[in-house]
Amino acid sequence: MLRRRRSSVVHAVLFFAAVALPLAAAEPWPQCGNGGGTYTAGSTYETNLKNLSLALRANASSSPTLFASDFLGSAPDTVYGLLLCRGDMNSSNCANCGTRVGDDVGQFCNRAMDMALVYDHCYARFSNKGDFLKSMHNSLQSSTPLMSGTNITSTDVAGYDRAVTELLNDTVRYAVENSARLFATGQRVGTDPGFRNIYSMAQCWEMSPVTCRSCLDDLVGRWWKTFPTNVEGARVDGDRCHLRSELAPFYTVDPMVRLQADGLIKPASAPVPPELVPATGGKNNSASKILVIILPTVAVAIVAAISLCIWNVRKKRRLAKYSRPDRTEDFESVKSALLSLASLQVATDNFHKSKKIGEGGIR
Ligand SMILES: *[C@@H]1O[C@H](CO)[C@@H](O)[C@H](O)[C@H]1NC(C)=O
Ligand SMILES: *[C@@H]1O[C@H](CO)[C@@H](O)[C@H](O)[C@H]1NC(C)=O
Ligand SMILES: *[C@@H]1O[C@H](CO)[C@@H](O)[C@H](O)[C@H]1NC(C)=O
Ligand SMILES: *[C@@H]1O[C@H](CO)[C@@H](O)[C@H](O)[C@H]1NC(C)=O
Ligand SMILES: *[C@@H]1O[C@H](CO)[C@@H](O)[C@H](O)[C@H]1NC(C)=O
Repeated sequence: MLRRRRSSVVHAVLFFAAVALPLAAAEPWPQCGNGGGTYTAGSTYETNLKNLSLALRANASSSPTLFASDFLGSAPDTVYGLLLCRGDMNSSNCANCGTRVGDDVGQFCNRAMDMALVYDHCYARFSNKGDFLKSMHNSLQSSTPLMSGTNITSTDVAGYDRAVTELLNDTVRYAVENSARLFATGQRVGTDPGFRNIYSMAQCWEMSPVTCRSCLDDLVGRWWKTFPTNVEGARVDGDRCHLRSELAPFYTVDPMVRLQADGLIKPASAPVPPELVPATGGKNNSASKILVIILPTVAVAIVAAISLCIWNVRKKRRLAKYSRPDRTEDFESVKSALLSLASLQVATDNFHKSKKIGEGGIR
């Protein structure tokens, strides 16, 4: 079983080996099912297929998860389908991609009933069998590995593979643990000019975080068995989860996961070989955990200090009926409390900014 699965993946890679990845003009990248049967022009199946693609477009673009799945028609002309837009898309660019699916669905795969259409912004799958909607994993037929036609220029292929695996791994973790859409984007900034920036994306839909993690971990684990180790960009789009890595930015939001090679934070006089500098994923995390604890404490202390000052001023005003107040001093003490609040805000702001080293380049 496992062997069959591997060989089908390899086959698909060979099939797609000539496809240079991020060329939008080459969209869609179709994956046509063999042996799933074909339909004839003007058949009920074709009408159902087109109507279903329109319904999926409407539902996915209006859904908060950018996902829709359904079936249309009665046997033997039932069509099952799903449409998923990339997690950083909004309703209108999701609808645009759905429109392309509607236009393309009859144009590819020589009317194979079983087909997947992969786009940059969305993914569509149609079949006369509904199993793929219930499956918890990417099915063999539709799991579409695509890769760039370009290789990395760096000779440190092992370092590159480690960097990609690490980034994909952390992106998966973020998608599973921190994202309502089960979607995450990532960026790794390294020291090797051959792969200084690596960008990533992971996505699942309509499943538990545990199932999502298992689907994506499976892809991470097989990544370098599926793709040549020096390939510049690669992606797998299946019925249940998607994973992607590129040297150029391809998503429209800020990276949710940032990894940074240690050498970049304090540049050494001689560049440290990348294999000696593990990227630091945990640091941001622990820094923000510390912030979460410190900031509220400081805020409470400031509020308490200000309240105390105001209380003091009021008390002195009350007492002023009886003794002469030193107005200047009261004003100064309130002002200094406010000043320290202002400087704290500036300091935290700066701290946030300094954490964002490595941002930029994202469209
Ligand atoms: C499918 O679309 C056609 C128009 O293209 C319409 O006449 C038909 O009623 C639709 N069928 C269903 C089941 O939605
Ligand atoms: C679209 O949503 C409506 C209402 O939620 C639902 O009745 C219909 O089955 C959905 N259709 C598809 C194709 O998802
Ligand atoms: C959706 O995003 C595009 C840019 O990708 C933007 O031009 C458009 O205004 C956005 N539409 C909505 C409804 O937010
Ligand atoms: C990329 O590297 C592979 C070996 O992993 C090689 O077979 C292929 O020809 C190279 N492609 C280009 C465009 O240099
Ligand atoms: C991926 O992350 C898991 C924890 O989520 C860790 O146990 C594993 O070692 C990581 N693998 C790699 C290659 O970084």
